[in-house]
Amino acid sequence: MSLARRIREMEASPTMAVDAKAKALKAAGEPVIGFGAGEPDFPTPDHIVEAARAAAYEPAAHRYSPAGGQPALRQAVATATSASSGQTYEAANVVITNGGKHALYNIFMALLDDGDEVLVPAPYWVSFPEQIKLAGGVPVAVATTKDTGFQATVAQLEAARTERTTALVFVSPSNPTGAVYDAEATAAIGQWAADNGIWVVTDEIYQRLVYGDARFVSLPQVAPAAAERTIITSGVAKTYAMTGWRVGWAVAPGEIAAGMGKLQSQVTSNVCNVAQAAALEALTGPQDAVEAMRQAFDRRRQVAVDALSAIPGVSVVEPMGAFYVFPSFEEVLGAEVAGRRVENTLDLAEVLLEEAKVAVVPGEAFGAPGYARLSYALGDDDLAEGIGRIAALLAG
Ligand SMILES: Cc1ncc(COP(=O)(O)O)c(C=O)c1O
Repeated sequence: MSLARRIREMEASPTMAVDAKAKALKAAGEPVIGFGAGEPDFPTPDHIVEAARAAAYEPAAHRYSPAGGQPALRQAVATATSASSGQTYEAANVVITNGGKHALYNIFMALLDDGDEVLVPAPYWVSFPEQIKLAGGVPVAVATTKDTGFQATVAQLEAARTERTTALVFVSPSNPTGAVYDAEATAAIGQWAADNGIWVVTDEIYQRLVYGDARFVSLPQVAPAAAERTIITSGVAKTYAMTGWRVGWAVAPGEIAAGMGKLQSQVTSNVCNVAQAAALEALTGPQDAVEAMRQAFDRRRQVAVDALSAIPGVSVVEPMGAFYVFPSFEEVLGAEVAGRRVENTLDLAEVLLEEAKVAVVPGEAFGAPGYARLSYALGDDDLAEGIGRIAALLAG
């Protein structure tokens, strides 16, 4: 075996695998409904696409640009992040990356030395543990359950803290649970991090997708003492239906931002200039499409929660943000479904795909066996039909 150990020991992204399998089955003519992908079904708003079209004709966009991002976009991100976080960020604090995923990778690479521990509240987004390991760190899962609304407490974090704890990953709204921490809980966690000299990597990619009474709070806004050791990451993918454009960013104290810029200068160079022009228009242009999409997600969220809760043996904590619902299937495990014994949610996801042609991501992928993640960022008809198929299959 000549493949390097770091790659041998790494898990491929299970969400991307489920999505790829569902898309392949669909392309082969199977009537598959995919709840796997974490991406809006809407097209990118026209004014953003137009900005990209114009940029594509600019010779400057055909050339290399600064590795850390185009100055205008870095400034726009600095301005927006300063407003939401209550801190003052300059363009130099911003690094533009190939999506939020790449921003997170750069952050862990810039922050961690071998053996540094990073607390990751579970259920977690699939890429955190793998990226932390790639950077030489040690992911330490902090389990939460539906009984606490999938929110980690200071007491749990404190119990997991050791001398090697370097950073905490804080994601609100959360993927996969849709949990949104309120200001008080966020402030308490930020203060705890500050008191213990722990870095906070706060992932704000779903900041514009909150529902009902839930409000997004940026951690440094309510815990200013944590600001000097906080790195904020976000991107255009989820807010503007731009998953395929691959633009995200990290906003960090100067030394860390410069470190990430250095890393990019050796590894990726600049993010595609046309995509950066699109992201600049997304941030600085009209915002009405954002609210229209949020309202559509909110409507679908309620449909999904009601339909899943009505299935015997399935229980749902109402998600208040992002576009995922994370029901528990624990009560249906150990039984026969479509003539097959279903021991865990990996088995369940397989039976659902094969028998009902419905793709969901098993909770095991998020460090939460017994659950499954369904994205409700898909068309209304597919949403109702897909959950109807799950109900029918489980009813036998
Ligand atoms: C919590 C979280 N962070 C970051 C990302 C990365 O998004 P992207 O790389 O498409 O910008 C995702 C995507 O699913 C996510 O769920």
